[in-house]
Amino acid sequence: VSDQGFLERPPAFTYRTSRPTVLSAAASVLHCDRVGLNHLSERYGTPLYVYSASAIRDRVRNFRSAFRQVPHTLCYSVKANPNLHLLKLLAAEGCGFDVVSGGELERVLRASRRSAPRTAFSGVGKTDEEMLLALKARILLFNVESESELWKLAECAGRQRCRAPIALRVNPDVPADTHPYISTGLRQHKFGVPIEQARMLYARAGGIRHLRVAGVSVHIGSQITDVRSFSAAMHRVADLVRELRRDGHEIEFVDAGGGLGISYDSTPHTTDEFRNTIAGYADSILKPLRGLKVHLLLEPGRSIVGSGGVLLTQVLYKKRNGRKTFLVVDAAMNDLMRPSLYNAFHSITPVLRQSRSFEMVDVVGPICESGDFLALNRKLPRMEEGDLLAIFDAGAYGMSLASNYNTRRRPAEVLIEEKSIRLIRRRETISDLLRTETV
Ligand code: LLP
Repeated sequence: VSDQGFLERPPAFTYRTSRPTVLSAAASVLHCDRVGLNHLSERYGTPLYVYSASAIRDRVRNFRSAFRQVPHTLCYSVKANPNLHLLKLLAAEGCGFDVVSGGELERVLRASRRSAPRTAFSGVGKTDEEMLLALKARILLFNVESESELWKLAECAGRQRCRAPIALRVNPDVPADTHPYISTGLRQHKFGVPIEQARMLYARAGGIRHLRVAGVSVHIGSQITDVRSFSAAMHRVADLVRELRRDGHEIEFVDAGGGLGISYDSTPHTTDEFRNTIAGYADSILKPLRGLKVHLLLEPGRSIVGSGGVLLTQVLYKKRNGRKTFLVVDAAMNDLMRPSLYNAFHSITPVLRQSRSFEMVDVVGPICESGDFLALNRKLPRMEEGDLLAIFDAGAYGMSLASNYNTRRRPAEVLIEEKSIRLIRRRETISDLLRTETV
């Protein structure tokens, strides 16, 4: 068997020889930890999100150790994957959370009420209702993105008879080499306040009774692989912290945001690779902050859960239109939107490893749009109808971006821990989808 075209994400997702049964001979099958993905598809159907608990925990521990020299809190960015069970797992690992809506905050409170004091609330459009919820929960920090928001938050805090801990999210005007939809740190973006106006706004905030200035926050974008962008942003933030302290503000926290990219390509990844990446990232954040004595907040999302999940899908039809070959699979853009939305590349591998010749295919879903694809012009081992494929690196912004377009039920999610399998979200039923409508 040639290994070419059969990809792995060790140590969680690797091919292992399955035991022969009455019905099937021994075969090399893609596993998540100790569980064969073919077994999961029989038990739960497809499309199915499969996560490895150990892969996710490993990433948290990698972060921990890279930042161990400074006081810090990892505020996992809920939007990357908001599954309640995953939030509980991450809280148990000591994570706090970054939320951007009242809904995300509700999730955090339900998964782990004790995490509120480790939760930061970001977002350009917080409503009164959301602010009140967060104030009642006594969260750690509000990342405020405009002057009007300062006033609105102060008013809400007044109603609650408390002081809201705030950081201004500054826009450092540094470019990040990523998809334009997920780059956020330039003046032209809607995010944050221009860094040049920050001192003036902090002065105002400092004078508002129901606010307590507590930190400075920044987030320049997502899927950033060149850490020099982080370093440039942190240098500007560090200068600002010094100025603000000279102005008399107590700056306890620096929230460095999220955004560390992962590798989506088809080269084999090793655990060491991520350790190097994270070491470089830690350097880019910590060097500019040296000597500042702040409590660092980090808001990683993708880098915690991205590689720890796959989307499992089955080939429904194989069809040839002229010179093109299409694998029509049962997962679609509503289940994994990243390829359609950002033209994002996700590696794909067959679940069964057999020696096969290769062919060029488009992997497409059943949705009525030409933009509904998971891979274009991809060289894959020859697949047949009924075969299973695993789409890698789908743990982040997979299920969280899924929709019910075409009245499709969103996938189920399972979490694997060694040999144990836990259904952490059942597949939706059509009644689930129709429940909120009237005839
Ligand atoms: N903090 C803030 C304020 C954010 O806006 C984000 C992501 C994060 C943290 C987490 O960033 P991460 O570590 O996951 O890169 N749907 C897109 C990604 C959108 C990211 C939005 N903000 C995708 O699928 O690539």
